[in-house]
Amino acid sequence: MPAAARATLLSRMPAPRHLVSIDDLSLAEMEAIFETAKRYSEDTRAWADVARGSIAATLFYEPSTRTRLSFESAMLRLGGGVITAADMSRSSASKGESLADTIRVVSGYADAIILRHQSEGAARLAAEYADIPVINAGDGSHEHPTQTLCDLYSLWIERGRIEGLDVVFAGDLRYSRTIHSFAYALARFRANIVCVPQPGFELPAYVVQRLREEFGVEPVRAEAGRLGELASKSDVLYLTPQKPHQLSLFTDPKGLSVDHVDAVYMTRPQTERFKQEAQLDETQYLQLGQRQMAAESLRDAVVMHPLPRREEINADMDGDPRSIYFKQAARGVPIRMAILASLLGETDCLKGEPVAQSPAWDAQREGLVCPNENCISHTEARHVSSKYRLASRLPLRATCAYCSQAIPFGAVGCSTSRLYHLPDSRDLRKIRPDHLVFFRDAAHAEATGYQAAANVGSAG
Ligand code: CP
Repeated sequence: MPAAARATLLSRMPAPRHLVSIDDLSLAEMEAIFETAKRYSEDTRAWADVARGSIAATLFYEPSTRTRLSFESAMLRLGGGVITAADMSRSSASKGESLADTIRVVSGYADAIILRHQSEGAARLAAEYADIPVINAGDGSHEHPTQTLCDLYSLWIERGRIEGLDVVFAGDLRYSRTIHSFAYALARFRANIVCVPQPGFELPAYVVQRLREEFGVEPVRAEAGRLGELASKSDVLYLTPQKPHQLSLFTDPKGLSVDHVDAVYMTRPQTERFKQEAQLDETQYLQLGQRQMAAESLRDAVVMHPLPRREEINADMDGDPRSIYFKQAARGVPIRMAILASLLGETDCLKGEPVAQSPAWDAQREGLVCPNENCISHTEARHVSSKYRLASRLPLRATCAYCSQAIPFGAVGCSTSRLYHLPDSRDLRKIRPDHLVFFRDAAHAEATGYQAAANVGSAG
């Protein structure tokens, strides 16, 4: 793009677009990115003028093969340059530099930052301090949106659509960030998700809650009788070497057709994230091989995996035409070319307004604390103040603005009347969402100058 045209385009973009969560993109924007990636994939060497002169910085606080190298390859294919800190333990982070300061500094060296970090919410924090696009390359067990774009793109290529597909999630659904971002996106595309978790590694409650309350997808637990009926049709239960697991279905049950599965998405045990209570005998982990994939329902299901794999997909699947996990990894280059080009303003994929998020409020004064000890609001507590958002009106729910986990509260006020209520009060429904203020408890509400509505006898 000529420099003048680019300058005009950028001047129309007052704040940079970031890709921190898969929620940051509308469905139309995702589809535009897929179309662009498809065009790039026809000859990845033909686009060396797209980002000429631009630089991407890759900051990796955790190990990576695919994400970092495919982003770097993508930037080089677009004609740009890369500066990399592949191992941030060898950067000034080891001298105690905060993530916020690192981001402010690197913003002066590059045109986009690609960040992988061990704490949930790190990329959201980075986006607050960067005046260039921040791309989340994985934050703890929270999200991995560019892997999700790669996964969705693979389904879109292989199946020609995403809407209405039946996708089985198997393995460690608790700590796998790729699963969490993928679940939110599939729910928005109205695909069906069938969960086959390793026992003890089910989808976290906050993910299920978001699927239900923010994306309108109602979790359905299969009844024992229904479970047998599905099992006999689908054999998906036999993914486990031990005993059948409970099957969770997240979609409109009328649309369900697990007698024909479109994709099995397998995940490894994320042992690096296990807390003490999450013990696992790896010899008992789910396994997928020719024996399991012989089920009639899986006859043309594609087998996906974000990789790296350990033992959970047998080598006997590698030559099977249904296995697409290495193609999926290779598609990381065109999809990340499209992501970079879009965030740098070199395509019109992101021409709409960013997907609106509810405002985030400071949580300190109200005594609110994120319960997730691996949230960036705790791991960088000296530099970050906790923030929360209104996540749902009914039921009333506040979530951490960084890691998305539910924040407990014991009182809710109205910022105009300065009255507070208990969380289950029906009077709260009368308060405008932007006037709601959450407090840890009544004592914090009173310390902040609010009065109990019950004592005043008003709805507030
Ligand atoms: N899928 C994925 O994120 O792989 P890496 O950890 O190798 O980047």
